[in-house]
Amino acid sequence: MPEELGRRTFLKTSAAAAALAAPAVHNARGAGDRINVGWIGSGTRGYHCLEQLYKGNKDKIVVTHICDTFTGNLAKGKDRVQTMGANTPSTHNDYRDILANREVDAVFIMTPEHLHHSMMLAALKAGKHVYVEKPLAHTIEEGAELVKAAKKAGRIVQVGTQNRSSALYRRAKEMVEQGLIGDCHYVRAFWYRNSAGDNPAWRYKIPPDANERNSDWEKFLGPAPKRAFDLRRYYQWRLYWDYSGGISTDLLVHQTDITNFVMGKTLPSSCMASGGIYRWTGADDDRDVPDTLSAIYDYPDRFHINYSCYFGNDHYGYGEQFLGNEGTIEVLNRQDLHYTPQLLRGAAPEAVKARKEVHLNGPKDFGEPDGLVTHIRNFIESIRGAQKPVAPVEAGQQAAISGHMATLSLKNGKKVVWDAKTEKLRYV
Ligand SMILES: NC(=O)c1ccc[n+]([C@@H]2O[C@H](COP(=O)([O-])OP(=O)(O)OC[C@H]3O[C@@H](n4cnc5c(N)ncnc54)[C@H](O)[C@@H]3O)[C@@H](O)[C@H]2O)c1
Repeated sequence: MPEELGRRTFLKTSAAAAALAAPAVHNARGAGDRINVGWIGSGTRGYHCLEQLYKGNKDKIVVTHICDTFTGNLAKGKDRVQTMGANTPSTHNDYRDILANREVDAVFIMTPEHLHHSMMLAALKAGKHVYVEKPLAHTIEEGAELVKAAKKAGRIVQVGTQNRSSALYRRAKEMVEQGLIGDCHYVRAFWYRNSAGDNPAWRYKIPPDANERNSDWEKFLGPAPKRAFDLRRYYQWRLYWDYSGGISTDLLVHQTDITNFVMGKTLPSSCMASGGIYRWTGADDDRDVPDTLSAIYDYPDRFHINYSCYFGNDHYGYGEQFLGNEGTIEVLNRQDLHYTPQLLRGAAPEAVKARKEVHLNGPKDFGEPDGLVTHIRNFIESIRGAQKPVAPVEAGQQAAISGHMATLSLKNGKKVVWDAKTEKLRYV
C-alpha cells in the first residue's frame, strides 16, 4: 500500500466527511481503516453496482465523492450513498475533481464505453485503484495503453466482467480442470433477447426531465466526434458506433471473457463476424449497431467459439456450452449449470459412464443471483492486500480485443487475424 494512500482513519459524520477534501494528516492505515471511494457515473449500472458495493463491503468503504453529468442521476447516486452509507458524499459534474482529491483511494468508472480510456488513464495517473466497467476501452489501442499505464502505476485494476466471480462459472472451471468433459475444442455461446414492437432493443427510456441544461453534452461526448446535442445519443449511447461497439463489446465480451476464464484461454487468433440491423428498422430508428450478430473465433491451440446474438426472439436466452469429447457443461442464463457425461450410446469408457449428471442453481446452491457482489468485494479485498483481482486489466483487454475483432470484421466484411507477436490485426 503506497504511503500516501495509507494515512487516514474513516470519518463518520458528514461534517467530518467534508473535511476529507482538505489535506489532512491521518493515522497510519490499520486493519480497520476504510477505503475512500470516488464514484464516476450513477446511471443504470452505476446505481446498481453502488448498492452491491455496500452489500458486500459496508464496513470497509466510504463513498466520499460522486460524479455524474446528468443532475438527475447525480442526485439519485448521492441519495443512495446517504441511505446505504449514512454519509453525504460531495457531488461533482467533472470527474477530474474527484481524481484531484488525494484522500480518494479508488474510483469506480461506470460511464459509457467511449469514456473509459480517458477516465481510467487519468485515474491511474492520479494514483487511484480502478474498477472499470467492461469493455475496458472503445478501441484495441486505447486498451493497450491502459494495460501499460496500469502496470506503470502499480495500482489494483478490476474490470467489470463479473461472471468470473460467479460460483457457477468457478465450478465449471474446476470441472474442466478435473477432466470431466475430456478434451474440449468447441464452445457455443449465445445471447438472445426480445421485446415488444413499441419497445425497441436498447432504446432505453429517456428521463422525462432530461434536457440540455441538466445533461452535460460536452462532457458526455468527451473524445467522441463533436455534434449537436441529442438526447437519444446521450441516453441510448449503445446504439451508436461513436460511443459503443454494440453487441460485440456490450454483450459478447462477457462470453468470450468467461470462456477464456473457464477454459484457460487468452486471445483468439482470428474472427469472422456477420450480421446487421434486421429487426429494428423503423424510419425513426437511427441506430448504427446491429441487432443480429454471429461471430466465429479460432484460437491458436485448436479451439473454437461459435457465438450468436439476436434481438428478435428470446426463447433460448443466454448461455455458454462447453462441448468436450467426454461431457458437456452448460451455464444457462447465469443461473443454472448442467453437466452431462457423453455416454456414446453405451460405448463410453467405464470411467465416463460412472460420472453423474449435475445440476446447480446459483441462487439455490450458492445463495447468489450472479457474481457481482463477490466481484466488487474481490476488488476491495485486493486493495486491502488480502486477495488478487480475478479480472485484471490484461484479462479485460483480452476480452475487449475479441469484441473489437468482431466489430472490425463485421464493418469491413473480412476475416480479421490477430498477430500475438506484433499485437496487431490484419484482414484476410
Ligand atoms: N458488467 C455488466 O454486466 C454491465 C451491465 C450493464 C452495463 N455495463 C457497463 O456499464 C457502463 C455504463 O452503462 P449504463 O448502462 O449504466 O449506462 P447509462 O447510460 O445508464 O449510465 C451512464 C451514466 O454515465 C453518466 N455520464 C455520461 N458522461 C459522463 C461523464 N463525462 N462524466 C460522468 N458521468 C457521465 C450519464 O449521465 C449516466 O448517468 C458501460 O460501460 C456498460 O457497458 C456493464
